[in-house]
Amino acid sequence: MNALIERICQIREKRKALILAHLYQPGEVQDVADRVGDSLELARYAAATDADVIVLAGVRFMAESAKLLNPSKTVLLPAAGAGCPMADMLDDTQLRELKAAHPGAAVVCYVNSTAAVKAESDICCTSSNAVRVVQSIPREREIIFVPDRNLGEFVAEQSGRTMFLHPGYCPTHQRLLPEMVESLRKEHPQALVLAHPECTAAVRATADLVGSTAQIIEACRTRPEREFVIATENGVLHALKKVRPDAALYPVSEALGICPNMKKTSLELILQALEQNRNEIIIPEDLARRARLPLERMLAL
Ligand code: 13P
Ligand code: SF4
Repeated sequence: MNALIERICQIREKRKALILAHLYQPGEVQDVADRVGDSLELARYAAATDADVIVLAGVRFMAESAKLLNPSKTVLLPAAGAGCPMADMLDDTQLRELKAAHPGAAVVCYVNSTAAVKAESDICCTSSNAVRVVQSIPREREIIFVPDRNLGEFVAEQSGRTMFLHPGYCPTHQRLLPEMVESLRKEHPQALVLAHPECTAAVRATADLVGSTAQIIEACRTRPEREFVIATENGVLHALKKVRPDAALYPVSEALGICPNMKKTSLELILQALEQNRNEIIIPEDLARRARLPLERMLAL
């Protein structure tokens, strides 16, 4: 075992820490983690753990969700600057203005959002459960969906609900273009195309299956095809290669399918976070109380 990994394992045990990594994290970070998953799975692991410390190898909103769901734990974000540009496209003042313009509407908030935006929302969702969350809202009630327009459009199609959509987007998924998928399809006509709902409508229209990161992995694991075009962040290829070593995997773009924030975590930063208790997530109690509710409602569904 390499010396760095050995030191991480020692201090993890000493501090009774749990390392959680998102599926978009660098491969070596996923490999050192206790658990790897999509946003919903990470939230569930964080809520259920009895570890003293949670190291969230991901981006800030994921670490904030872990802290909100398990407030007595120390939650560390190894790369302090790992944010999510989509989460920063909407602030709580803008959301309050939207609510005032749509009185009585229910606010469904993608977890890729700040704690302050969650605090103004009725219920959270991830890309795994967004359709189910929207379907849980009475049909007569108007819905404001924030902050991802692409996911919102996908959920509206799937649920048959009309919703007011905030125009946020994930810059990484937005860079993937339908012509890139079409050219891969021409080269590999037998391949199954799997796309994340954060992709644009034009890319989703080229896909055989649209699903969250974990749903893409599950489809790849269980489907009989031996070739897959992957329209999401390229970090998933690390897990896909493990579940389907026999399959040929074609990312839509090697160069563009990368979220720079997800790649800020390193083994060195995980070690520093654990050794020096660096980058602890602190959320003021009043904000935490309000932001926790929509997350708990989501997990209770
Ligand atoms: P999921 O983990 O829900 O697939 O979301 C992808 C994502 O963009 C996380 O930042
Ligand atoms: Fe945000 Fe997109 Fe990166 Fe996910 S992949 S953290 S949504 S920018």
